[in-house]
Amino acid sequence: MSAIPAIDIRYLRVDYGNFVAVDDLTLTVPRGEVFGLVGPNGAGKTSTFRVLTTLMEPTYGEVILDGVDVLEDIESARRIIGYMPDLAPVPTDLKVWEFLEFHAAAYGIGNRSQRRQRVAECLEEVALTDQREKWCKELSRGQTQRVVLAKTLLHRPSVLILDEPASGLDPLARRDMRTALRKLAEGGATVFVSSHILSELAEMCTSLCVMNRGRLLASGTAEEVRQTLGNTERVLTATLLARHEEAAAWIAAQPAVHEVKISGQQVTFNFNGNDDAQADLMEGILRLGIRMRAFEEKRTSFEDILVGVAESNRLP
Ligand SMILES: Nc1ncnc2c1ncn2[C@@H]1O[C@H](COP(=O)(O)OP(=O)(O)OP(=O)(O)O)[C@@H](O)[C@H]1O
Ligand SMILES: [Mg+2]
Repeated sequence: MSAIPAIDIRYLRVDYGNFVAVDDLTLTVPRGEVFGLVGPNGAGKTSTFRVLTTLMEPTYGEVILDGVDVLEDIESARRIIGYMPDLAPVPTDLKVWEFLEFHAAAYGIGNRSQRRQRVAECLEEVALTDQREKWCKELSRGQTQRVVLAKTLLHRPSVLILDEPASGLDPLARRDMRTALRKLAEGGATVFVSSHILSELAEMCTSLCVMNRGRLLASGTAEEVRQTLGNTERVLTATLLARHEEAAAWIAAQPAVHEVKISGQQVTFNFNGNDDAQADLMEGILRLGIRMRAFEEKRTSFEDILVGVAESNRLP
């Protein structure tokens, strides 16, 4: 694997008049990743993507994709980039294969039979071969998204930039999208994908970053992001066969524990210690000699974390 990162963004800034939409964004993504960009509406995701895909000049900053300086060498950049915009136009009066062959011709891909071959490959990549004869307007939303993704792949881009590709998809269609993206990354492409839904990206991506009001707040694996954003609180529940009051009193006296409640067989409490401390706590309950039937942990959902981020960054 080459040491050159697939995506190298430095000090990127985008202004619309007096408004700063992207503020000092620096980010690198190694090749072969499915990398997520998450942020609430207005965070600056689409603005960032517009610069990366040569559609807009930034106020300041550098963008290098697979070693190509996007702001200097637009022609080369466009050959390596595959961009799926957030509101991709939906074809209606063409069959799936016609739509793709039309675009293959527009990209100047080979002769007729080479284009046919390439379209077949791209349909295979997004698992839509069996829909090739359908009218585009007859496709479901998930299938439409995948046809647009197939179109994005025609010219064999090495960096895919997909703006909210899973928006409006049901869990099954999201899974198909995730499989398609993982496969592309395994084939050597790098995928940069945005969403305002953190949990959606957490399941789709190898790593991700969180942006709000134009600024990068955290990046890394989903777990690292969770930690950077300072959310380590969990709700723990011990299901005990006896002596609940005694157990609750002991738990309440331990560090990093608060809001201890008893409900039936269950003692539930909030805990914001680390993993080691949590293991000690579990062991401590067992040492009391109280029979424990189950021990469960629930994390604050990613959505709650993101809502917290959005609220804490709101202007006064
Ligand atoms: N052409 C424009 N002129 C002026 N302001 C703009 C323009 N495009 C975007 N903005 C502003 O820049 C900010 C970032 O917009 P952007 O579209 O990049 O956000 P986003 O993260 O993609 O949001 P969403 O989740 O809604 O797609 C927003 O406050 C938006 O109003
Ligand atoms: Mg957007």
